Amino acid sequence: MAELSLEHVGKKYPNGYEGVKDFNLEIADKEFIIFVGPSGCGKSTTLRMIAGLEDITSGTLKIDGRVVNDVEPKDRDIAMVFQNYALYPHMTVYDNMAFPMKLRKADPQEIDKTVRETARILDLDKLLDRKPSALSGGQRQRVAMGRAICRNPKVYLMDEPLSNLDAKLRVQMRAEISKLHQRLGATIIYVTHDQTEAMTLGTRIVVMKDGVMQQVDSPSKLYSEPCNLFVAGFIGSPQMNFIDASVGEAAGKVTLSFGSNTITLPEAKGKVLKDKGYVGKAVTMGIRPEDVVDSNEHPADRNLSEQIDATVTVYELLGSEAMIYADVDGGSISSHVSSTNPARVGSRIKIAFDLDKVHVFDKQSELAIVH
Ligand SMILES: Nc1ncnc2c1ncn2[C@@H]1O[C@H](COP(=O)(O)OP(=O)(O)O)[C@@H](O)[C@H]1O
Ligand SMILES: [Mg+2]
Repeated sequence: MAELSLEHVGKKYPNGYEGVKDFNLEIADKEFIIFVGPSGCGKSTTLRMIAGLEDITSGTLKIDGRVVNDVEPKDRDIAMVFQNYALYPHMTVYDNMAFPMKLRKADPQEIDKTVRETARILDLDKLLDRKPSALSGGQRQRVAMGRAICRNPKVYLMDEPLSNLDAKLRVQMRAEISKLHQRLGATIIYVTHDQTEAMTLGTRIVVMKDGVMQQVDSPSKLYSEPCNLFVAGFIGSPQMNFIDASVGEAAGKVTLSFGSNTITLPEAKGKVLKDKGYVGKAVTMGIRPEDVVDSNEHPADRNLSEQIDATVTVYELLGSEAMIYADVDGGSISSHVSSTNPARVGSRIKIAFDLDKVHVFDKQSELAIVH
């Protein structure tokens, strides 16, 4: 059992800088939760406060209902795997993994059984006699993971554990960690600056910016209903398009205009904007590249907007798909198109937006008004 509860947790560094502000989160037993955000947003600080490596300067941290603010790291039953996994260079893989258990003066037979079982799970059983210098980066990372597993903690904290690995290995280890979570049945808090990693690994994701939690949701919810402009731009690659637009009303329908272009919103979306008093106001419109369609591609089942004239400025073939970047009157727009699309740089095309996927954000608060 390991439930964590963070209540109004904050970190003010001795120099007065607030690394984390009013962080509130309940983490369920056996949950795999991700903290994601750009460098410097307070992910490591939060994790280190949970581990006890950093003082909590305000608020309360509870593990299984018990306040642990002042409990020593070693008594919190937490194992941490860092980005720079420090293995003991003079010890074999076996001894590196056995070390925390030896420190705890565990029974030698139990140590042996645990190390071998863990090595098997992590596919390290043939490497037990090697020294870290004779291992690849990925193997070393697995040993670091193995050492944490051998401790059999209540909670695993992982701080960018894959960031030193090459792209291919990262994808491989990502899958390993997912499997590991299911096997261990442990609570895992995993930190990354990489939104793709967050989206593929987590069942719940905490998005952070400047020490402040922005949104906590499932990957699909974060993607389809980002709470503000920051989350909308941070989650998803290539990025969501943003266009300055003004809200209008014509023939009883609510519209968004940019440059000489006007699109008419579906009734439900329009009603929200109207009821909240946005008619006549400037807003930021958001639309993901896959929701911008080239009208030549005859997309079925899409609730499309009026057509918009666009001139292609960049064409990128991605394989089965391509990205088009185009200028429109009042902005520029990227669009995911099929690789068979004939448009190239300089082509004049007509695009349309999937109206069901248009997001509208308040210009001042940057909060989402409607999705
Ligand atoms: N000891 C410290 N004193 C002052 N500021 C710090 C200290 N450690 C980290 N910070 C600042 O706190 C913020 C959050 O840092 P960190 O939690 O390491 O971010 P992340 O892990 O998300 O990249 C950063 O702006 C960082 O510069
Ligand atoms: Mg960090």
